[in-house]
Amino acid sequence: MKAYICDKYGAAENLHLEDVNLPAPKSDEILIQVHATSLNSWDWDKLRGHVFTRFESFKAPAHRILGGDAAGIVAAVGDEVEGFNVGERVFGDLSESGWGAFAEYATGKAANFAKIPETVSFAEAATLPQAGLLALQALRTANVQPCMHVLINGGGGGAGMFAIQLAKYYGATVHGVDNAEKLDAMKSFGADHVYDYKQTDFTDLTQKFDIVIDMVAQRSPAHSLRALKSRGRYMVVGGKPFNPLRMFLASRKTREDGKSVKILMWNNSAEDMAKLVKMVQDRKIRCFIEHVYPFEQLKSAMDAQSKFLAKGKHVVHMIPNSEQNSPYPTAI
Ligand SMILES: NC(=O)c1ccc[n+]([C@@H]2O[C@H](COP(=O)([O-])OP(=O)(O)OC[C@H]3O[C@@H](n4cnc5c(N)ncnc54)[C@H](OP(=O)(O)O)[C@@H]3O)[C@@H](O)[C@H]2O)c1
Repeated sequence: MKAYICDKYGAAENLHLEDVNLPAPKSDEILIQVHATSLNSWDWDKLRGHVFTRFESFKAPAHRILGGDAAGIVAAVGDEVEGFNVGERVFGDLSESGWGAFAEYATGKAANFAKIPETVSFAEAATLPQAGLLALQALRTANVQPCMHVLINGGGGGAGMFAIQLAKYYGATVHGVDNAEKLDAMKSFGADHVYDYKQTDFTDLTQKFDIVIDMVAQRSPAHSLRALKSRGRYMVVGGKPFNPLRMFLASRKTREDGKSVKILMWNNSAEDMAKLVKMVQDRKIRCFIEHVYPFEQLKSAMDAQSKFLAKGKHVVHMIPNSEQNSPYPTAI
């Protein structure tokens, strides 16, 4: 099979196509023919060698074939797998199974996959595993309720796009913060109010929030807590490499005004993936896709991902030389 191989940290140009052996599924895994993969900040971090990634492997990515999000067709099932059959349309997250979605075929733990309903395309399903789960689990952990004011910092990114839609669906008034170029996109995701982070520090707004979901925590927790109403919750999803320790200490502290800091411990849950894809099927949320790239242009997709300019997800159609490479969303 053809696969994009990465033997050293760097940029998209470090990915090169090779013919490699088809992977064999372990007893608890399925083999899928990958039809679509979507890119996340995590893929870029693994390719460029983010500091956390270098703890795992110092000089080169620990996994030669990258790619976390995968949607495709089951090609084989391991001996102990129940509930999946060859030929079914599935999607899942390979980050706990050795990655590998940047290839024609990939294996992954069956427990990390869910089925794709007929009316949902491979491209749409591929956007859900990492970004959708981060958003769903962040909002659930923060306990978003109707009529709350919820602010999503980094609302124009992959997880932010789903977080805005889900908060809106749960009945909150939603405030989105991102760069100026993503303000319209955040409105199209459903945000009621949008702010450019280069112009506005959300902690200075007179409006205070019941919940702040922070995809890109840059400042101290004490600073961010200024944005909350009393008893408000500050939910940290991602941020600066050295912020976690401060956030952890802040999350252990009890405050007189009842404000709290929570850190999202993301969980690769097939049950949550099934919930999300049902919401897509029922048109309660949408998978916004910036562009669908053909297999041959995966490097261009990764290059675009590295610039963080997308107003939706970058998806790559992983069937080489296919005539089905026409754009979003119906073709794949
Ligand atoms: N908690 C967990 O278990 C877990 C697991 C996986 C990933 N994560 C983290 O989850 C986060 C979200 O992932 P993602 O895929 O949605 O990332 P993403 O697509 O890169 O989105 C981040 C967005 O935040 C914007 N941004 C950057 N600096 C900002 C600032 N100071 N204020 C407001 N917005 C800002 C970015 O815009 P620009 O174009 O301006 O940069 C971008 O639109 C990442 O930090 C990732 O590391 C957490």
